[in-house]
Amino acid sequence: MTDVSERTGTVSLEDAQQRYIELLKAALRNSLYSNPKPPTKVDLARMWLFKRQLKYKYRHNQNLVALALSPTDLYWTVQGNLLPAHTLGSQANVDNVHSCVERVLSDGVPGDLLEAGVFRGGQSILMKGILDIHGATDRKVILADSFEGLPEPDAESCMDDVIAHELLKKVGLFAAGADMVRDNFERYGLWDERVVFIKGWFNESLPTAPIDQLAIMRLDADYYQSTMDALTNLYPKLSVGGWVILDDYGHPLGCRQAVHEFREANDITDPIEMADDQVGFWQRTS
Ligand SMILES: C[S@@+](CC[C@H](N)C(=O)[O-])C[C@H]1O[C@@H](n2cnc3c(N)ncnc32)[C@H](O)[C@@H]1O
Repeated sequence: MTDVSERTGTVSLEDAQQRYIELLKAALRNSLYSNPKPPTKVDLARMWLFKRQLKYKYRHNQNLVALALSPTDLYWTVQGNLLPAHTLGSQANVDNVHSCVERVLSDGVPGDLLEAGVFRGGQSILMKGILDIHGATDRKVILADSFEGLPEPDAESCMDDVIAHELLKKVGLFAAGADMVRDNFERYGLWDERVVFIKGWFNESLPTAPIDQLAIMRLDADYYQSTMDALTNLYPKLSVGGWVILDDYGHPLGCRQAVHEFREANDITDPIEMADDQVGFWQRTS
């Protein structure tokens, strides 16, 4: 953004566009009006108890990665997700989406923008807002989700997901209906025919979904099988020069395992960058 001291008279179009996007990100993160309260001693004690209960329940599992989380982390996982924000994403997460969308536009990478795992729709709303403010009306924003929350994970493929599932049940498994997501788009004035919903479980909906070509695929579906289903069905449609964003890459969830297995099976060596300690992403080069 232009420095205030450099501005004379009217704000430039580019400056106005960036100010809109910054405001949109703040609104989507609900950071304009409220900040989450820090955990109290009682909250932390509750989380310690829950952690001990989980450990007892899954004591046969040798790989309790989820339990390596501190009680403070557990608290934020549960409590943070109860906030009314339209995205769960951090500032670094929304900045990452912002920069990937603008790179796609400036590099002319062909394709639509997709998020698989949308919850209340915030990151997809951000993608649509950036497209619209830049006049990029030739691209769609595609939202793939069950619109009824996370699926029951498979203990055979990833025990970490089973443990996380117990925790996430406490916040409703991120269930947000399609009507709510549409309403959220409308609140920002961004709902139109270029927003496409693909409703259903990924293994059923994605193989036949009406998706031609993608410039961005943002995966935020937490679990091993969900991430694998999304990568398997969507990566072949990603343009060279496009971006894969993996929201849960740094979490103690099956996402990371699925990413590594998929990359190995498909000889993908493009380096994974980190937006913060949670979000990984790479640019497809071949
Ligand atoms: C953590 S939430 C997404 C958060 C959202 N991207 C945000 O920025 O706030 C995970 C989402 O993935 C969806 N999901 C996970 N696995 C799925 C699957 N196999 N099929 C369909 N939806 C799935 C859930 O319904 C939920 O909306």
